[in-house]
Amino acid sequence: MEFVTLNNGVKMPLVGFGVYLVSDLEECERSVSWALSAGYRLIDTAAIYKNEEAVGAAIKKSGIPRDELFITTKVWIQDAGEENAKKAYEASLEKLGLDYVDLYLIHQPFGDYYGSWRAMEKLYRDGRVRAIGVSNFNDARYVDITVNSDIVPAVNQVETHPFFQQNTLREAMAEYGTQHEAWGPLAEAKLGIFENETLVKIAKKHNKSVAQVVLRWNVDRKVVVIPKSVHRERIEENFNIWDFKLDAEDIAAIAALDRGRSELVDHQSAKVAKVLNSWKAHD
Ligand SMILES: NC(=O)c1ccc[n+]([C@@H]2O[C@H](COP(=O)([O-])OP(=O)(O)OC[C@H]3O[C@@H](n4cnc5c(N)ncnc54)[C@H](OP(=O)(O)O)[C@@H]3O)[C@@H](O)[C@H]2O)c1
Repeated sequence: MEFVTLNNGVKMPLVGFGVYLVSDLEECERSVSWALSAGYRLIDTAAIYKNEEAVGAAIKKSGIPRDELFITTKVWIQDAGEENAKKAYEASLEKLGLDYVDLYLIHQPFGDYYGSWRAMEKLYRDGRVRAIGVSNFNDARYVDITVNSDIVPAVNQVETHPFFQQNTLREAMAEYGTQHEAWGPLAEAKLGIFENETLVKIAKKHNKSVAQVVLRWNVDRKVVVIPKSVHRERIEENFNIWDFKLDAEDIAAIAALDRGRSELVDHQSAKVAKVLNSWKAHD
């Protein structure tokens, strides 16, 4: 297992397992169990995914010692604010059946997220969570929270794949010492990623799949990846990325695929802000 070390010394696995849109609880528990058997130790969930109970059940059944796992969950917009975020953290722990998580993230830079951050800083100082961070913070949002807070986010989890490489945000995060984590590392199986000529060529050359190539490319840049799948063979495939090496030509070809913007979800748009603010993690 390969790790990165966060800005507070905590070690985080470079490859984890995501459960967005796995809303069927039995399917979620089964998928997480397969992931844990395959060797994954980082599981990424969120209050808004409404599957924290299933993640918790799979963890419990696995019998894996708690300190070998790295569990992430996130506070939703509905629970933004100092008091609400504190309650949301307790509710997530209860659902997960855990007494701490390894990483607690502000899911979206909407609502009173500065209030959420203050609550999270307190949870961290009280030793209730091992690391705190943010998600979907673009360059400006990320720098703003970083320079206006006591604690620099340990992680910023943002959409990252060959078509959106986040190179300018990476420069800012390197300056302040925040770990880059990729959501949608397989571009959510969209944008023709698995048929992309450049990626297919590289995959054939190494006798690996496109999924394995794009995951390896990100981890080689020290980006934590959390691919999601509900299929056992894909879960195993996505974890099996260490027995080949991309060369300089492959890396240059992938660099050229960057479009410099999201084509999956535009967090700068009024429409997305409106839709995300309407989603509820609970009644
Ligand atoms: N912070 C945020 O706002 C945010 C947003 C999105 C996601 N996330 C996190 O990031 C995780 C990953 O992102 P994501 O789930 O959106 O997308 P993703 O991991 O990029 O892609 C998942 C899609 O790829 C398919 N897939 C997985 N492995 C494959 C393989 N080896 N070959 C072919 N297809 C494969 C999956 O299908 P099957 O399941 O049918 O195999 C699914 O349709 C999420 O689960 C979640 O934990 C966070």
